[in-house]
This record gives sequence, structure tokens and C-alpha cells, in this order.
Amino acid sequence: MLHQINTIIFPTLTYQKIGKGPPLVLIHGFPLDHNVWGDLIQQLSKDYLVIAPDLPLAGGSTYNGNDLTIAQMADSIYAIIQHEKLEKVVVAGHSMGGYTVLAYAEKYENSLAGICLIHSSAYADTEDKKELRRKTISLINKGGREGFIKQMIPALFSEDFRTNNQELIKQQILEGLKLDEHALVSFYNAMINRSNRTKVLGNADFPVAWVLGKEDNITSLNNVSQQTCLATVNFVYVYNDTAHMSMLENCRQLGDDLSSFCSYCYRSINK
Ligand code: MLT
Repeated sequence: MLHQINTIIFPTLTYQKIGKGPPLVLIHGFPLDHNVWGDLIQQLSKDYLVIAPDLPLAGGSTYNGNDLTIAQMADSIYAIIQHEKLEKVVVAGHSMGGYTVLAYAEKYENSLAGICLIHSSAYADTEDKKELRRKTISLINKGGREGFIKQMIPALFSEDFRTNNQELIKQQILEGLKLDEHALVSFYNAMINRSNRTKVLGNADFPVAWVLGKEDNITSLNNVSQQTCLATVNFVYVYNDTAHMSMLENCRQLGDDLSSFCSYCYRSINK
């Protein structure tokens, strides 16, 4: 069932809430919304209270400001957590959702039992990546939104998965096409402008889990593995035959790993 709250800066924030138990917040990536978690939510909601928000400008969530930032996206998550009166939460984020998790941890550390970064990174964009994103923004502004989504979504998956799951890929393209030009450009600018948050990991007094796909070309294994020893307590899950979308490419395994990570986090705070 979809819930919603309203704030001045986020006139509508929508989120799915399902299950019973300690809370687990799942933050989606770009260019999708909470629906991307699909079956994973069903699996995890057997043991956890799963909250899956739509980030501002995605799904049913709106934004009333000028330039959306990753930090504001983290504020939107905090607004939901406060509304739900949750004291300690495990927050997991996929890719851009992981950037949001780190911004959340920077500001709201006291509310965390643990964080999980799924195909994500604490580094800022390189100059090359920023340039590439600016070119994409200009393409989108010239009417290239549809072409961009149709080319971008399949590249998130491993080649084998793409070949064997063409209907699913088509469905994800349709999901991506729900975002209008303004949302796509706002998310890209938010990612361009985000800072390096490796310090958040260095200061973390909560466990950090990493989910990596061996075939991920967006958040490469090499790049992220350098970060997986920065926090004091790290869990690292590396999946074969998986690129950037383990919630669809390797859903059962991701569910099992998230479940055991959450169980560790909540056992640790209750000691
Ligand atoms: C995502 O999956 O959220 C994006 O690929 C993140 C990015 O472009 O850095």
C-alpha cells in the first residue's frame, strides 16, 4: 500500500510500507522509483518493516524547490522516518539511492543502525563523468529523453540477463520513461554536484554493507573495492553474473544478504 506525507519543500512524498519487524528503508536509483524493488520487498517484508520511498521528482513524490540536491533527497527520507516514528533504521540505497544514503548518514547518523550501498560509491563524479552527464543533459533538453532512457536502461544489466529477460528490460524502460525531462535533468545535476563522502565511511560507527556486481560497468568493482575497508565494520557481497541491478538480476541472493546484514545490525544495537 502506498503512503504519503506532505511537507513545504516536498509537497508529496510517497512510499510503500509493508511487513513487520525492525525497519529497513530501501532507496531506489536513477531513473526509477520504488517499484524497482519488486519481489525483494515481498521477501524482506516477512522479517522486516520495509519502507520504500519514491525520491522527490520520482514516482508520486514532488519537489517544490529550484535545484534538487542529494542532501535534500536525504532530508526527504528523514521526513518519512520521523513521520513513522522510527528510532533506529537500516537504510539501503541502490546507486543514486546509495549517494542519498551517504548524505543521510552525514546528517542523521544518530538514527542509523546500519547502511547498505548497493552498486554505489562514496566518491564524487570524476570530471569526465560530469562532462558526460552535461552532454546527456543537453541531449535531453533537445528532446532526446526517450532515446537516452532506451539506451541507458539495457546497459544497467549483464549481457546474459539482457538476452534472457527482454520483457523485463522493456518494462524497466517503461518505468524509466515515467520520469519527465525536468526530473532526469534535476537528478543528473544533483549527482554532478554531490561531494565525495568517503569521510562519512571513515567516521561511521554503524556497520556498512556493500553489494557489488562483477559485471557492473557503471559502478565498477575496482573503484568501489577501494572503499570497502574505510568503515570499521564492513560486509562485502560480490555477485557473479550480475551488473548494476542485483534487485532484478540476483534478487533472492540480495534479499538473503540484506536480511542477514539487518539481523547483524539490530543484534548489535540491542547488545
Ligand atoms: C543509478 O543507477 O542510480 C545511476 O546509474 C547512478 C549514476 O549515474 O551515477
